[in-house]
Amino acid sequence: MRQLIAGNWKMHGLSADAVALARAVRDGAGGVDADLLVCPPFLHIPAVAAALAGGPEGSTVALGAQDCHQAAQGAHTGDVSAPMLVDAGVTHVILGHSERRQNHHEIDEVVREKTEAALRCGLAPIVCVGETDAQRNAGQETEVVGWQLAGSLPQGFADPRKDGLSCAVAYEPVWAIGTGRTPTLEEVATMHAFIREELVRQFGAAGHGIRILYGGSVKPANAKELLAVPHVGGALVGGASLKAEDFLAIARAARDLGDEVRTPGPWG
Ligand code: PGA
Repeated sequence: MRQLIAGNWKMHGLSADAVALARAVRDGAGGVDADLLVCPPFLHIPAVAAALAGGPEGSTVALGAQDCHQAAQGAHTGDVSAPMLVDAGVTHVILGHSERRQNHHEIDEVVREKTEAALRCGLAPIVCVGETDAQRNAGQETEVVGWQLAGSLPQGFADPRKDGLSCAVAYEPVWAIGTGRTPTLEEVATMHAFIREELVRQFGAAGHGIRILYGGSVKPANAKELLAVPHVGGALVGGASLKAEDFLAIARAARDLGDEVRTPGPWG
């Protein structure tokens, strides 16, 4: 399995910026040995879908969203459902990002319900976990991440899928997001090995088939070393994903995961 390099555009750019960025990523994606995903703001999704589809040989860049509601429909002012995302051509959805957990008070139970909603309609969720600065300073980082994994991932999260899409977990230390600070490679290795153990404990052998992304201040200058750490299955990139050349430079640092991530087969 290849590494997944996902761009989280957050709440940046107007429609024309999103289209230009999507086109630049699409046009530069040829020859990149990684799975690529861009996650624009909801409102830009249709324009980005059209831009990605307009490539000369079709697009190899997948389209994701940054959230979805846990219900399929209903009286939920301002929200967007998972079936609406599928209808718009979305295949992946980021869930439980620390900015959602903090700014929208999303607790693990809500993240789990959203993840279930995504799985029900065939979206591949990328579920984010990660400790705050204070929690790491108190030596609680693995405990916190362990609770988040147990609380946020529903049954069936690790089940092999026929469509080739795979669910992912993103380890994003809150203190590394948008700060330019990153954990040491040893800290990343320790946490990713812990997450792998937890996934296997929760889901059995299927836990080996889940990519574990690293996120938080990934940039071209540190991508190669971060992506080389065992059990790092890709990157969730914020700021650096807003410049196509930086995002593609990160993608060019990706490697094949070989036996590190193996999906148990046979299908069905
Ligand atoms: P950053 O954000 O790359 O700007 O640190 C990562 C994220 O929040 O997903």
